[in-house]
Amino acid sequence: MNLVVKRKNIQNDKKEGINMSRATYSPTKDELKGKSVVLLYSGGLDTSVMLKWIQEEYSCELISLTCDVGQPGKNFKQVEEKAHKLNVKKHFTLDLKEEFVNEYVFPALKANALYEGSYPLHSALSRPLLARHAITIAEKENAVAISHGCTGKGNDQVRINITAYSLNPAIKIIQPIVEWGMLRDQEEVYARKHEIPIPEKSKYSIDENLWGRSIECSDLEFPDQEPPEDAYEWTTNPVDAPDTPEYVEIKFKKGIPVALNGEEMGGVKLIETINKVAGKHGVGRIDHLEDRIVGMKSREIYESPGATVLIMAHKDLEKAICTAQEFAFKQLIDQQWAYCCYAGLWMNPFMDDLNAFIDKVNERVTGTVRLKLYKGNALVVGRKSDWALYDYKLATYEGISTFNEKASYGFVELWGLQTKLAQAIKKERNKKGE
Ligand code: ARG
Repeated sequence: MNLVVKRKNIQNDKKEGINMSRATYSPTKDELKGKSVVLLYSGGLDTSVMLKWIQEEYSCELISLTCDVGQPGKNFKQVEEKAHKLNVKKHFTLDLKEEFVNEYVFPALKANALYEGSYPLHSALSRPLLARHAITIAEKENAVAISHGCTGKGNDQVRINITAYSLNPAIKIIQPIVEWGMLRDQEEVYARKHEIPIPEKSKYSIDENLWGRSIECSDLEFPDQEPPEDAYEWTTNPVDAPDTPEYVEIKFKKGIPVALNGEEMGGVKLIETINKVAGKHGVGRIDHLEDRIVGMKSREIYESPGATVLIMAHKDLEKAICTAQEFAFKQLIDQQWAYCCYAGLWMNPFMDDLNAFIDKVNERVTGTVRLKLYKGNALVVGRKSDWALYDYKLATYEGISTFNEKASYGFVELWGLQTKLAQAIKKERNKKGE
């Protein structure tokens, strides 16, 4: 009897659980009719076709949002004009460069973030930022849904969607590429019908921001073939790079780069400058066969001159400052950080936990690193910090050494105790034929 009463209570408790909307995707026409939708709009063919298609398909109003995260040479004015021509109710252009650098790129740098040891995560880092602003605008403008140009095969949908509905569980998401299944030819037919300008078909799919450039598709889908030279834009072919090496000196304060070659500058300018200098020397080309979250392996080419140099410098300085135990553990933490960022788990509290450790270590990461850039290579050639655990008098082989060499007899004896014992036992057992 008692048991039955208890079960009833449990069911009631469950009913009082958090109210999470399950109807996130594929909203119906009725749900959207006359309402507003925020579209993350790049101005390219895909999102321009979407802009029109959503308005037509759902009889709703469109608000377009274009974010400046440091895409070199992008004309944001033109994108805005294009959006208005396609009948948007409102258009927003947001300059997010500072926010991107301070809240996404610098935490990644403190985590020496390289997914699978190679990819500096520039595309992955920008997605939660874009999603956050899409949600802010949706809430301000009373929009019921957001939309974006991600395919159903990539990681970006994972990152944008999880961030969006973590911030607003009631938001609906329209992913036109998944909904409509239009191929490029069909998109062009649709574009012609609706007077959407069709840009020259670019060979590659490109995603760019301050931290790097991602290039996929076309010839790059054959991972056994060397990428054609036309895939690269930010980096000189190392063969044609200057014949004289160039030195750069980066000053870090609490894990953040604050000066380049002695000149103090803000993060955006510093990254832009290093991108140019390192790019000129052919530094930062990455050919990566990577594991997508959705399961497949994909071949991606990256150009990340600034990220390559800064991560290399930061990691070197951190190593000079950390104890051996801190450094070994931090590599595990850094790997987890890179994985979660890649996998769209930016909003997962685990990221806060990882950041707590990373920030704590970085409180001491202050100093200067010197690098040599030459024909596609960046090499750390010097580091200096008041916090470094390097001690000349301990390390030197000169007579002034303060290292107590006699103490090493006792140390080695105890440190090797179990190794010595294990070998002795093995020998003994083997003799007995065991
Ligand atoms: N593979 C990278 C990632 O998942 C880049 C994705 C965007 N790339 C592109 N070419 N559109 O983060």
